[in-house]
Amino acid sequence: MKDRLVELALKARENSYSPYSGYSVGAALLASSGKVYTGCNVENASFTPTVCAERTAFFKAVSEGEKSFEAIAVVGGREDTSSPSYPCGVCRQVMREFCDDSFKVIVVNGAETEEYTLAELLPRSFSKLSVDGEKHR
Ligand code: THU
Repeated sequence: MKDRLVELALKARENSYSPYSGYSVGAALLASSGKVYTGCNVENASFTPTVCAERTAFFKAVSEGEKSFEAIAVVGGREDTSSPSYPCGVCRQVMREFCDDSFKVIVVNGAETEEYTLAELLPRSFSKLSVDGEKHR
């Protein structure tokens, strides 16, 4: 499944709209339902509305009714994708909203992949549990 997610993230990256940064990113998000939702970064002349590939994938999935997720593969770079493209802090916070500590983040590093848990990427985080305990879990 890891290879398949990376493959789908690379494919999604082809749709990246990134004329300002030239940094194109693709993501493939595996929901617990087994469905995969892809996303790319979508930039804007006004900069602030720019959205990352990871959030595109999450918002597509949540808007389709998904609430539980297993893993995401992220592939990005200016031209090739040989150096790892780690999710930005805002995307990590969005992952925190919908994912457990064990959620897996897969990034590509040359011919290898690196795999992290959300707990590793966003330790001591602020979440819905911080706001009102168990209510939303
Ligand atoms: N970007 C992503 O798509 N995901 C990230 O986690 C980091 C950054 C995009 C946003 C922007 O279009 C470009 O990469 C350069 O920052």
